[in-house]
Amino acid sequence: MENFTFYNPVRIHFGKNQVVKLKDELKNYNNILFTYGKGSIKKNGVYNRVSEILSDKNIIEFGGIGANPEYETLMKAVEIGKKNKVDFILAVGGGSVIDGSKFIAAAINYQGDDPWNMLSKYEKFSSAIKIGSVLTLPATGSEMNGGAVITRISSKEKLAFGSHILMPVFSILEPEVMYSLPDTQISNGIIDAFVHIIEQYITYPVNAAVQDAYSAALLKVLINEGPKVLENRLYYDSNANLMWAATMALNGLLAAGVPEDWTTHIIGHEITALYGIDHAQTLAIVLPGVLSAMKEEKSEKLLHFAQNVWNINIKDDNTAIDTAINKTEEFFHSLGIKTKLSDYNIPNCAISEICAKLEKQNFIKLGENKNINPEIVKKILEHQK
Ligand code: NZQ
Ligand code: ZN
Repeated sequence: MENFTFYNPVRIHFGKNQVVKLKDELKNYNNILFTYGKGSIKKNGVYNRVSEILSDKNIIEFGGIGANPEYETLMKAVEIGKKNKVDFILAVGGGSVIDGSKFIAAAINYQGDDPWNMLSKYEKFSSAIKIGSVLTLPATGSEMNGGAVITRISSKEKLAFGSHILMPVFSILEPEVMYSLPDTQISNGIIDAFVHIIEQYITYPVNAAVQDAYSAALLKVLINEGPKVLENRLYYDSNANLMWAATMALNGLLAAGVPEDWTTHIIGHEITALYGIDHAQTLAIVLPGVLSAMKEEKSEKLLHFAQNVWNINIKDDNTAIDTAINKTEEFFHSLGIKTKLSDYNIPNCAISEICAKLEKQNFIKLGENKNINPEIVKKILEHQK
């Protein structure tokens, strides 16, 4: 196992009627920026429940943060936040609202020319407004990590940034808020969490028994519980299991002490930036291509995955690995999510466009061994035409 430092201070309040915990969590803050998305929280009652608890605070609302949160929109919130001297940001929504709020939190305190430089030029930042979240969609893990992914429409860029100072102080996870999610968002959430685990697990072995066992177990939870949520949307226990699995998938625990390979996410972000496809759907397209193209160097972990996640006991290793990759793609299909570029009307000429964008951003040495070059990216995408 590699050396590591693990740090995760996010307080999680999980279960039924946990929004009441906001009262205590926010007792030391007065000017609160309450951020949310395009209206789902007003339809499912979450907005009213949160507003009621905050009725004695000075609340500044900022709604309208859409999926794949946009720099252009978020900068308006930065202005509002500065003007009102907000001392806390409460993000109520899915990954997009939480990520957007992390950007707002860092941008309000940013001292340089343009807060976008924190993403495009990896400019360091050392201060941010504190944030907390009420999660409404299990998928990204943003509620328990310090990462965020922001899109800039003017330049068609979708870039990630992060810091431990952007980790929420607390996150409230109520599985019942999932009842109002459309099926596609449930499927997206299952696949996003699935791929987060794979990208921390399917690399090369470093004898990290705990991390490997956790990864395999979490994948099995997603495979077993995810379809149950789709079958019976109001079955509390399966919603709870899915929500907690998605949070655990990207809170730093699985990545501690092991190599990682974020190739699928990096390529997927370009597909969203260029074609507006949902984040998880880009992952469903790219992952089978990555696993197939890199199966020789990932063979030991793929075999672990085949045996421990898919219970494949075929003697021939190569056949076992191919079966595991096929089963993964079939699982995505069973959730109603397609896995080929053509399924989303993305033309073949997009492949060179995606490769060129990646090269421009210097994403030319991807993977745990830094050997996934533009040629291999092309091969990955050709595989998923
Ligand atoms: O905007 P509203 O009206 O709230 O509707 C949202 C949105 O349309 C809706 N929704 C959310 N909760 C709902 C609900 N509808 C009904 N009932 C509810 N309870 O769902 C739609 C999608 O929401 P969004 O927040 O965009 O989805 P998700 O949580 O999948 O977030 C995706 C974003 O997170 C980034 C992605 O790149 C993408 O921009 N990621 C963030 C990561 C991180 N911070 O660690 C890692 C991930 O890999 C990912 O890249
Ligand atoms: Zn993701």
